[in-house]
Amino acid sequence: MKKLRVNLGENSYDILIGANILSDIGKKVESKGGKVFILSDSNVAPIFANTVIDSLLERGYECKLMVLQAGEQTKNIDSICPIYSSMLEFNLTRKDLVITLGGGVIGDLGGFVASTYLRGVDFVQVPTSLLAQVDSSVGGKVAVDLPEGKNLVGSFYQPKLVYIDTAVLEDLPDAYYIDGMAEIIKYGCIKDEKLFELLENINSREEFMRMAEEIIYTCCDIKRRVVEIDEKDNGERMLLNFGHTYGHAIEKYYNFKGYSHGQAVAIGMAFISEISERLGQTQKGTTARIIKILEQYGLPIKDKVCPKDVMSAILNDKKNFGKKLHVVLLKKIGESFTYPTDAEYFLK
Ligand code: GLY
Repeated sequence: MKKLRVNLGENSYDILIGANILSDIGKKVESKGGKVFILSDSNVAPIFANTVIDSLLERGYECKLMVLQAGEQTKNIDSICPIYSSMLEFNLTRKDLVITLGGGVIGDLGGFVASTYLRGVDFVQVPTSLLAQVDSSVGGKVAVDLPEGKNLVGSFYQPKLVYIDTAVLEDLPDAYYIDGMAEIIKYGCIKDEKLFELLENINSREEFMRMAEEIIYTCCDIKRRVVEIDEKDNGERMLLNFGHTYGHAIEKYYNFKGYSHGQAVAIGMAFISEISERLGQTQKGTTARIIKILEQYGLPIKDKVCPKDVMSAILNDKKNFGKKLHVVLLKKIGESFTYPTDAEYFLK
């Protein structure tokens, strides 16, 4: 098992990464009050909840499992009240523990509920999707969506532990594997050319799985360093948004039904890199490498919609063109920077 320590003063915590470690979770978590509330979804709970519960019962904890409908629509402000009610019914106190067992939706939603229930109860992230294992479970961003947009209500609330069992990825449908790969490629792009090269040399999901522990460790370590420098997202942490401005616009353009997050980010990375390379801000040949690797992992590299229409989707009003925004650019693979500009940049 590999271990990383996220150093954030009194909010510091460990990330534990290993294969087939889920059945040991009871030994790694602590609930001073003796109760553990587990939040999961209808895809994940049938496969993994019993393993987690058995391990907790073995340590003498009293458990309650709540299973929500799988899918992004669950990460909604309306999902919150029934969770609070279920926690109250279980008499969960501030001395107890919440475990989020699932992908980004469950981690973000459950983390937000944990951050607000009784003004905050400890929680442990047990991410079961590749995307959640390398990104959303680390760093303490928790939130729910509003009808007006994604992640509009939330907080920075660090978990007590992130517990990553790489073996659970064996059960992941291919589409989710590919989705997570976009964020892994992003880490290589922004901070780690060696990781990028390693990914260039992986030719199948089986090969990836053989190196999953190492690769996920590397990604979490990059995120750890970034979050330690800039927990509240005022500078360094923005680098994690490489490909995300255009990616988010494209997700929104299709009303979150056209592309998955990873697919949209892939299009965003190829798109921004092509512009910055053409403008001489990015080393020549970078975009070709990015396009090649995205295609290698089955990710899209462009969309047919006109960029102006795509950008209007996030700027609401065309008057917002001209407003300042920071885009993340690559100097070269493994080196990134933020560049203050405006939305016109995406139309160059
Ligand atoms: N997923 C981006 C961040 O955690 O800042």
